[in-house]
Amino acid sequence: MIIEKKFEDLILNVSSRAALSAKYLVGKKDKIAADKAAVDTMRSQLNKIDMNGEIVIGEGELDEAPMLFIGEKVGTSNGPFLDIAVDPLEGTNFAANNLPGALAVIAVASQNNLFNAPETYMNKISANVREKGIVDLDFSVKKNIYNLCEYKNKKPNNTTVCLLERPRHKKIIEELKKLGVNLKLITDGDVSGALLVTDEKYNVDLFMGIGGGPEGVLAASALDSFSCFFQGRFIFDKDKDKKRANEMGIKDLNKKYQLNEIISGDSVFCATGITTGDLVSGIEILDNEFISETLITHKSTGLKKIIKKKQNI
Ligand code: FBP
Repeated sequence: MIIEKKFEDLILNVSSRAALSAKYLVGKKDKIAADKAAVDTMRSQLNKIDMNGEIVIGEGELDEAPMLFIGEKVGTSNGPFLDIAVDPLEGTNFAANNLPGALAVIAVASQNNLFNAPETYMNKISANVREKGIVDLDFSVKKNIYNLCEYKNKKPNNTTVCLLERPRHKKIIEELKKLGVNLKLITDGDVSGALLVTDEKYNVDLFMGIGGGPEGVLAASALDSFSCFFQGRFIFDKDKDKKRANEMGIKDLNKKYQLNEIISGDSVFCATGITTGDLVSGIEILDNEFISETLITHKSTGLKKIIKKKQNI
């Protein structure tokens, strides 16, 4: 099923208004309040759209979060059946501390085409290559770098790898340093990190490492429109996560998911800046208007660009 073009504006409106709501709480040292503001707005905006939407990736399970929970139906119940993944405030620390890179993120796919990801960690890799076998989650760090360098006709010291700065990545970081590659270590926000491979202007050749599973699915939906490479493997190391995986019908807990197993068919993705970051600028509030910048992709129309928009508050 093709998602109608009008959904580009509708979804952009959802993410930009969620970003505006969070913007008012930037720098207030309260990540819960900022997240709630973005969630509330996303929810009320989604409910205005003529669609039969279902949240497949959201803010927790029904018993944990009252809003935008997995399985929640959104929209007027009059229109296409869509799967929706949301991360209303990606980078809660960024927003709370007024740091670069906070985003409001949403992806919409035709029904049953978006992976219903559990809230666990995911080992991920993305690169701007179309072919399989150049980079792979199961290759060593060295093999990934050497293959990618050969593919891009570059040297390791002209190659940049983005990953979250976490103790769990110590070994990978050491290996990358030994290979002489440049590191881009991010403190949070790996949806953006994974998307930095999409355009030469960001100067990132490879994104790798362990971050949130839902964030992986969201990034994959944009990477699909950019025809980039992505793989992810969920990490089910706690009993509760294993139980959840079972309930969701995931049999092979160690499965490596290819991009098209995470997202297939048509999709629209929007990431609006709350604070200015690598991908997009943050919200600017004027008297009765606001200016937003959104990275938007729509698979079937080939749309992939940053849209700057002035709207009434
Ligand atoms: P929040 O916005 O929910 O705080 O997530 C930020 C984030 O950095 C994600 O981008 C990333 O996937 C995840 O946290 C990594 O988790 P952790 O901080 O536990 O390593």
